Amino acid sequence: MNTPDPSSNAPKITVIGTGYLGATHAICMAIMGFDVMGFDVDHRKIGQLRAGQVPFYEPGLPEKLREALASGRLTFTTSLDEVAEFGDVHFICVGTPQAANSFAANVSYVESAFMGLAARISRKALLVGKSTVPIGTAQRLTSMVSETSSLGAELEVAWNPEFLREGFAVQDTLHPDRLVFGVTSAWAEHTLRRAFRPLLDAGTPLIVADLATAELVKVAANSFLATKISFINAMAEVCEATSADVSLLASALSLDDRIGGRFLKPGLGFGGGCLPKDIRAFKHRAEELGVGQAVSFLGEVDSINNRRRIRTVDLVRELAGGNLAGVRVAALGAAFKPDSDDVRDAPALDVARMLYLEGAIVTVYDPEANANAHRLYPDLNYVDSLAAAVEQADVVALLTEWKEFRIADPDYLGGLVRHRRVVDGRHALDAHLYTSKGWEYRALGRPCQPGRPAGGAPSRTESPSEAPGLPR
Ligand code: UDX
Repeated sequence: MNTPDPSSNAPKITVIGTGYLGATHAICMAIMGFDVMGFDVDHRKIGQLRAGQVPFYEPGLPEKLREALASGRLTFTTSLDEVAEFGDVHFICVGTPQAANSFAANVSYVESAFMGLAARISRKALLVGKSTVPIGTAQRLTSMVSETSSLGAELEVAWNPEFLREGFAVQDTLHPDRLVFGVTSAWAEHTLRRAFRPLLDAGTPLIVADLATAELVKVAANSFLATKISFINAMAEVCEATSADVSLLASALSLDDRIGGRFLKPGLGFGGGCLPKDIRAFKHRAEELGVGQAVSFLGEVDSINNRRRIRTVDLVRELAGGNLAGVRVAALGAAFKPDSDDVRDAPALDVARMLYLEGAIVTVYDPEANANAHRLYPDLNYVDSLAAAVEQADVVALLTEWKEFRIADPDYLGGLVRHRRVVDGRHALDAHLYTSKGWEYRALGRPCQPGRPAGGAPSRTESPSEAPGLPR
């Protein structure tokens, strides 16, 4: 990848909000050769980043942070005045969580970031929103900025949605599938092209659009992915009412190029800080716009997803003989997906909580997310190893498909548990291997004696959230 030529007068970059998205963006822009200043109101987070520590778990990012700091191109601050003084292009990456009392997105952090910068910036600059926002927000912010700024309409707003996935954040930022620029002037497009020159020179496809389309791309993409997951999970429900096997069904569907196998992995469904809240906020916004009917299906996508959690609890109860009171359950995983310590709307933790509320003695082990999970649900037991989790378990429930769980030896685990019973909430284990070792195996949408696809065991990949197995 080409780095910006210093003589080309590369824009100075700032990044407002150093959460998942912002920290990754700031670090990767510095790696690409830009001078970058990261900002956050959280002094502790800024202290950690300055010390070369990433405040969350993301494979490969700590190394990139240390490399960027060593280059001298990356600094961090808690002063918005410094940010306003430093930057030519300001990327706003603050969160838009679900509002407290509705499904709407809370855009107050985005608004205060734009207003804070508008009040301070005194030379021509570009404010670029990266946060996921309801359609129409960028247009509204444009008016607010021009009313607040002494520069008036000279201080422009653009939108540049971000598609990075947790666990693949570095790869997705340095080698994105596409770039989307939502702009209202040729100057804004030119400025963004300069800010992404290394990626554009490397051939990354670019879509230049209006502000509303750029906002919509993000929520539409997440809605499509959520719908695809819920589609296969709806098929799992149909399979459960018959003797069909959703794993085989997904493998067969995935071989149709028009359908493809990615995001077609059945199981406990989606969670995290994006998909669930984004589909709810999109539905809410569409209703406000008078087109609620067009995306009413997203309510069904959400319901199917939530039902999978309840059904997983049913499977554990069934295996335990119909009553969970006093049953020792090993809950393997708490994060919303592997290679992440994020427990926001995590299906795994939700299931562990429901089991606990029915009287089970739940022991949770997640390789990275125990601390975050404990903060959210302190009543569950947390242990530091797989062996400690399954020790004397009546039922083992695999809830997040960490590699450590997928490759565990069923004989070894069998020697530790009280009963060889496993609920595979992520279709991540080799059902035949487990049953051949005397385990009772259950998975959502699969019969008690699962079928075997021609050519061997059901397909498994390094990251089953990518299954059935097409590389990105
Ligand atoms: C998602 C989008 O993929 C990304 O483009 C956007 O920028 C942010 O939201 P992320 O939340 O990191 O990224 O996770 P993702 O890999 O999309 O997985 C979301 C959830 O879906 C996880 O809980 C995962 O376990 C689940 N999933 C994924 C399935 O249940 N089945 C699948 O086939 C794929």
